[in-house]
Amino acid sequence: MTLLVQITDTHVTHPGELLYGQVDTPENLRDTVTEINRIRPRPDLVVITGDLVEQADRESYEHFKELVRPLQVPVFVLPGNHDDPEMMQAHFEDTPWFPVTDDTFQYAVETPEFRLLALNSHAGGSELPELDGDHLDWVVHELPRSDKPTLIALHHPPMVTGIEFIDMGGTEWFQGLRKVLDADENVHLVICGHCHTDMAGRIGRVPVYMSGSVAHQLIAARGFDIAPSFDVRPVPPVLHQFLNGQFVSGSYPWPVNTEVNRIDRQSGIPWETLKLQMMGSKAP
Ligand SMILES: [Fe+2]
Repeated sequence: MTLLVQITDTHVTHPGELLYGQVDTPENLRDTVTEINRIRPRPDLVVITGDLVEQADRESYEHFKELVRPLQVPVFVLPGNHDDPEMMQAHFEDTPWFPVTDDTFQYAVETPEFRLLALNSHAGGSELPELDGDHLDWVVHELPRSDKPTLIALHHPPMVTGIEFIDMGGTEWFQGLRKVLDADENVHLVICGHCHTDMAGRIGRVPVYMSGSVAHQLIAARGFDIAPSFDVRPVPPVLHQFLNGQFVSGSYPWPVNTEVNRIDRQSGIPWETLKLQMMGSKAP
């Protein structure tokens, strides 16, 4: 069993600044790092799927590094529309977090059971998604290099969400990826962020799991364009568990009071007895 934890859209600000004057994104990330460090058994890797910082500059990336360094699990990051891949490469050079070797800013990570391909959908330097040319060629080249099941991580959702200002990038940008995935049965899951809300969909036959944000959630109408509202709360990390040849995904909180609030300790009933009760056993 390999355990991958995903967090996304951390939007780290400059030290002392609040996002939109309201959201303490550094504090949210600090708490999330603490929460991930508590997870047992310990996860195998953490992937942060873009929008690492609110504003791509030296101060923000150094602040992000300071907040992520206490993670006791190997970390990998990829760019979102708020990021600058070149700056990421420069600022993360002294870490193993962004192991890119060419100007696609994409990379592969091997785990004992599956392969992670981290893509850069912020290819054009615009806020809109793009994934073609060298970036798509890289995927075509990488996929046949391993027989292992593959998980693809990128920032933008390669699917229609029904949220107008998210969907304004259109559907063309992910058609190339869709064709590649249609022709390769090894890709089991695509994970992404960007919308600051959780959502599940598909790109062709492959499931897409979109995680909510560690910064804040978006309350956005479906099907018509009004200014969205905020829910100023982070979501728990998402656990993608590779189990029985498939990924099983879902929110996975591990708060500070997990041990204290164990049902056996609170109730004084031994766990073996509690299990029978939870299973609906009528045994005394
Ligand atoms: Fe974001």
